[in-house]
Formats: sequence, structure tokens, C-alpha cells
Amino acid sequence: MKILILDDAKAASARAAGLIAAQVAARPASVLGLATGGTMEAVYARLIALYRAGEVSFAGVSSFNLDEYVGLAGDHPCSYRHYMRELLFDHIDMAPGAGHLPAGEAPDPEGEALRYEEAIVAAGDIDLQLLGLGLNGHIGFNEPTSSLASITRLKTLTRETREANARFFPAGETPPRLAITMGIGTIMRARQVLLVATGAAKSEAVRQVIEGPVSARWPGSVLQMHRNATLVLDRDAASGLELLDYYLDIHPE
Ligand code: GLP
Repeated sequence: MKILILDDAKAASARAAGLIAAQVAARPASVLGLATGGTMEAVYARLIALYRAGEVSFAGVSSFNLDEYVGLAGDHPCSYRHYMRELLFDHIDMAPGAGHLPAGEAPDPEGEALRYEEAIVAAGDIDLQLLGLGLNGHIGFNEPTSSLASITRLKTLTRETREANARFFPAGETPPRLAITMGIGTIMRARQVLLVATGAAKSEAVRQVIEGPVSARWPGSVLQMHRNATLVLDRDAASGLELLDYYLDIHPE
């Protein structure tokens, strides 16, 4: 794992956006794996700025998002399809229809999960998968004890995850209990993964993922088995790392 520690969240987001732009420059027809959540808001804002400055074009890019809530229609303001349109797709030159997410409102969510997995395979799998990190170490919505070989399927969200994500829902509304998420095996097939974690609240998950055992208890720890994984952190998220000095020494940012 390549561990890059930046001074603050702003610098970490800019670094992550730069790595995505570099992938697209190297392969304009890249298949990107995209993520949602608070951490990605600044990453996407920076990507939009790079696009507006003429430094990157997404015209040839296609994308697959990690996950979507079951039961939310695409026009629901808390759906991840809405999030992606508002925070990225509507502001860049990606071709219409090139940004894929699971259809959370599909009448047969299990069938939809399988269809989504097959679409990723048909696209030749993902070149660069962007990941956030849950407080409990989840990647996508692969909660603790998810099979490390799993493919896209339905997952029941933990109470902790639903509470953490309640801030994106109107008062009185709670996040759905179920989500469709790419599996850990799906994510591991990506040729490159880029995980971004910022803020002190993530420091325990970051420590477990980087320095703990590979275990379904902290699903992100599986990235220790990936050949091309980069973790972009800010100082706060990195604050619990035992080998912090070593990481700073290898990649002084
Ligand atoms: C949600 C998403 C995850 C994301 C996580 C972290 O649970 N499904 O993909 O990594 O949020 O979110 P935040 O960046 O808001 O902490």
C-alpha cells in the first residue's frame, strides 16, 4: 500500500483528484469506480475545477458507482444517483448515460445487483476505483463480516452506518436498511484503488485497515492484498498509525 499523508483534508482531496485526473489523462477511455459520502464532495469539487481549467476531459470516461440505497428512486434527493448528478456528472463533459449506478428502486434488487456486476465485467472491470472509508472500516457498503470474495449484492447496513449517514437525510427520515453494493471481490478486481480518508473520526478505522490483520472485521484491510492501492489521508486520519514516521519518510508530501 502506498500511504500518502497530507496536511489537511483540502490538500488530501486535491491530491486524490490529481491522481484521478492523471489516470484519465493516461487512458481517456478509463472506467472509473466512483464513491459517495462527505469525503468525496471536496474531491469532486476539485475534479470539476480541473475540468473547468481545461486540465482534464471526461468525454471518453465511463463510471460505475459503488453503491445505492434500496428503495430510493433516482430522483430522491438522498439517492446516490442524485448526489452524483449534483456533485459531479452535471458539471463535467462525461457522455450522457456513461455514469452508472445500481437502480435502488428496481422491483428485484437481487437481480439488479447481479445485472450491475455483469455490466462491470462487460466493461472490462474498473481501471481506478475511488473509495471512502466507513467508521467501521466498510468500503462501499461492505459492512464488517462481508465476504472478502463477495460480488455486487444486497447488504443490510449496521446501525452505526445508518446513524453516520442520517446527516444526509431530512430530519425525521432515516437511511434505508438495505443497499446494493459492489462486493469486495468486485473492488479487488479494479486495476488500481484509491482510498481517501480524512478527519480524526476515521483514525481508528485507518489504523485497523493499514496496520491491523486482514480481516472481514475491518473490510478495508483487504486492500493490503491489492497490488496497486494508494491511501490518501490527512494528518488527523493518520494520527493513530504506529508507523507514521515511516510513511512520512517514504512519501514526504
Ligand atoms: C457511505 C458510503 C461509503 C463511504 C462512506 C464514508 O457509507 N457508502 O462508500 O465510504 O459513506 O462516508 P463519509 O465520507 O461521509 O465519511
